[in-house]
Amino acid sequence: MNEPTITPRTVRNFMRALQGMGVDSYLFDEGDRMTLSKLRKEVRQCRKCPLAATRRNVVFGEGDARARLVFVGEAPGEEEDMQGRPFVGRAGKLLDQLIERIGLGRGDVYVCNVLKCRPPGNRDPEEQERELCKHYLFAQLELIKPKIICTLGRHAYNTLLGVDERITRIRGVLTTYRGTPLLPTYHPSFLLRNQNRVNEAWDDMEKLRQLL
Ligand code: URA
Repeated sequence: MNEPTITPRTVRNFMRALQGMGVDSYLFDEGDRMTLSKLRKEVRQCRKCPLAATRRNVVFGEGDARARLVFVGEAPGEEEDMQGRPFVGRAGKLLDQLIERIGLGRGDVYVCNVLKCRPPGNRDPEEQERELCKHYLFAQLELIKPKIICTLGRHAYNTLLGVDERITRIRGVLTTYRGTPLLPTYHPSFLLRNQNRVNEAWDDMEKLRQLL
């Protein structure tokens, strides 16, 4: 039987996968350098807001730790809270279709949320929760250094840009976050309720494909 060929690319992809799963810092000494997995451990301990008392799991985010494209959603829902993974419910299935439209898969991108813990009953994130949690998102983006950010819905956009805009006004309009191109699109949950808007989201995915 032939031995599998291990190339530098195979090793690189393996290391990236470990980092995406948050297990690399158990295996490699990173010294004082902040990494996504160290940040993940920090966020897992977070008790800064009352959501810590009601969460089942922290949903930190997952995907390629060096992704060129990062999707930012709002907050974990029930299924995400149970599994500790972002966008694994119905909205997640639609997000997968959007990502496929760009010609990519989940493993090629990074997916996270503004809030890392579920607001009870899937209510909107509160101002104070966003304020306390947003620094984790900023740090994630700082570490991943994506080429493009795609915000899903108004909360992600408003939190990153420190504004208070309506999604229908800003969707599809390219802007920047700390120098990185940012394209806002609809939240998949909104698209599930407003299927007549899906074509606009397809257009946004086409724009992302061209920008990548
Ligand atoms: N909605 C979000 O905004 N994020 C998730 O992870 C799931 C649903």
